[in-house]
Amino acid sequence: MSLDLNHVIDDFNKSGLDKLIEKLDHVAYRVKRGERLTTMQAMMNLLPYREFKNFKIIKADAITTCIKLHETLPVIVISEGLSEDSIVEKYCQKYGSRVHHLAYLVKDIEKVVEIQKSRGVEFTSDQVIGSVSEGIKQIFTMPTETTNHIVEYIQRFGDFDGFFTPSNVENLMISTAKLGEA
Ligand SMILES: [Fe+2]
Repeated sequence: MSLDLNHVIDDFNKSGLDKLIEKLDHVAYRVKRGERLTTMQAMMNLLPYREFKNFKIIKADAITTCIKLHETLPVIVISEGLSEDSIVEKYCQKYGSRVHHLAYLVKDIEKVVEIQKSRGVEFTSDQVIGSVSEGIKQIFTMPTETTNHIVEYIQRFGDFDGFFTPSNVENLMISTAKLGEA
């Protein structure tokens, strides 16, 4: 391992983040209009994925499907715009169908964001989206420079077992609008 990587790891661990971030929770694709079912079919042909949940995201004019492999994580989340004006479709017209974000389960999201902001990490929204009463809090980082995807930090509360709430996902998608239109 190079000295540079050791430096990154030391710095990360000193910040306390290693104890707050647990595991990969879900992988989210954004695909072009008409490609959601094709993507699901391809995954289900290769692997024992099963349809888990579907959501219509009204403000973003998009539909999102979650597929699950047995009871394991990460769940795969596939979003498709329903019109040319959809944030999801605009993103795909610019970048093609691809992984949009990888979401990691954390223990104390406010602390993670506070530490990361102090380390210079940028987010697509000023505040964490969601609340304890909704059972979920989430936030997106800006995309990485090389692999282009966003990292999501996610924390659940109580017995909530979803990947977003309808209002959360709308706010998250809206927070990324500037990326798709840039
Ligand atoms: Fe997500």
